Amino acid sequence: MKEELAWKKFLRNLLIMVGSRNRPQLRRPTWIIVLISIVCFFLITAYIYPPQTSKPSACYFFSSQGCGATHVEVPKVVSRELTDRELESRVVINEILNVDPAKTKIPKVAFLFLTPGSLPFEKLWHMFFKGHEGKFSVYVHASREKPVHVSPYFVGREIHSEPVGWGKFSMVEAERRLLANALLDPDNQHFVLLSDSCIPVRKFEFMYNYLLLTNVSFIDCYVDAGPHGNGRYIERMLPEVEKKDFRKGSQWFSMKRQHAIIVMADSLYFTKFKHHCRPNMEGGKNCYSDEHYLPTFFSMRDPGGIANWSVTYVDWSERKWHPRSYKAQDITHQLIKKIASIDQSPHYTSDVKKSVVITPCILNNLKRPCYLFARKFFPETQDKLIKIFSNSTLF
Ligand SMILES: *[C@@H]1O[C@H](CO)[C@@H](O)[C@H](O)[C@H]1NC(C)=O
Ligand SMILES: *[C@@H]1O[C@H](CO)[C@@H](O)[C@H](O)[C@H]1NC(C)=O
Ligand SMILES: *[C@@H]1O[C@H](CO)[C@@H](O)[C@H](O)[C@H]1NC(C)=O
Repeated sequence: MKEELAWKKFLRNLLIMVGSRNRPQLRRPTWIIVLISIVCFFLITAYIYPPQTSKPSACYFFSSQGCGATHVEVPKVVSRELTDRELESRVVINEILNVDPAKTKIPKVAFLFLTPGSLPFEKLWHMFFKGHEGKFSVYVHASREKPVHVSPYFVGREIHSEPVGWGKFSMVEAERRLLANALLDPDNQHFVLLSDSCIPVRKFEFMYNYLLLTNVSFIDCYVDAGPHGNGRYIERMLPEVEKKDFRKGSQWFSMKRQHAIIVMADSLYFTKFKHHCRPNMEGGKNCYSDEHYLPTFFSMRDPGGIANWSVTYVDWSERKWHPRSYKAQDITHQLIKKIASIDQSPHYTSDVKKSVVITPCILNNLKRPCYLFARKFFPETQDKLIKIFSNSTLF
């Protein structure tokens, strides 16, 4: 501020001087006195306020930047120097993104079931899979007890599993374990994470084409400025993850092979979230990595590669701690038809305004139905769902 005032004075004097050139009536001694005082003032100012690069708003006569941009707000480019780990991570991720994954003759969709034990909807899934052998594969991570199977598609499909706690980082580790096991089969080109309360709402062919004919991953991703979004962020995530990068999204993803490999390759952000996005952090804060790690990671490293919605429908409109769960009496043909025909996805925020952001589901420039699967359904709904499934043109 001081500099600015001084410089305003200086400029005024300068103007007087320039103006004086056109005034021949001014006598010579006056002219010289003015010039000398200007030079003195200038030297004193330059001595008292030497140029400081950390103050870009100040304007210096001798500075190479000149004065032109003094009053134009130059956007600050905060170019932080990357850490070694970050640089290494970027190199690996960009390399994977730049190489088209090897195509196999008959690509498969891998179904990754994350469940405590037996899957209540195995019969329904069996109907869904039947007749499409060779185009899908099933993996089951049963974290509590060994499941009892009723469908041959599920027999012997358990992978090694570890206990999983609700909201704990072990959830993310189980997701990674499922991805790793499914990546062993090169035919698996798309990976869908599902829970024991998920059901299909479309026929297999529709699902297969939907996932394999698009080049994006369906990772739910949005900004929630409220306590259940950015409120969970802690500064220990710096420097790699800034608050402005923090995202929220549903745990239930589907992703293309390239992205599954990137998840395998990531240890930097994985470790960051493991230590600084978990329940019971310092100051009593809670963070749930299963809702933040992948949305934040992909929005930072490949924002154009994700659709920003999940293909698994869920109803948060009641704004409770848990989403709506469907009971037998709720199940009608209309309900399933309604879910299957939704073509815009809502994001409920937890800020004071409790706003909901609704975005159309657009793929390859076309508005499309958003959902292939849905949750949460009580096991008791299965018989009704099977009836609807066996008599509908939708599925
Ligand atoms: C996906 O394909 C569309 C056109 O079909 C293209 O514009 C877009 O860049 C592609 N995205 C990726 C991540 O490859
Ligand atoms: C998802 O959102 C990001 C911005 O957060 C945007 O850059 C990207 O294009 C979006 N993806 C699609 C498929 O629209
Ligand atoms: C099958 O669904 C149609 C409507 O889609 C309905 O009119 C018909 O009664 C249903 N049949 C059975 C056996 O449920």
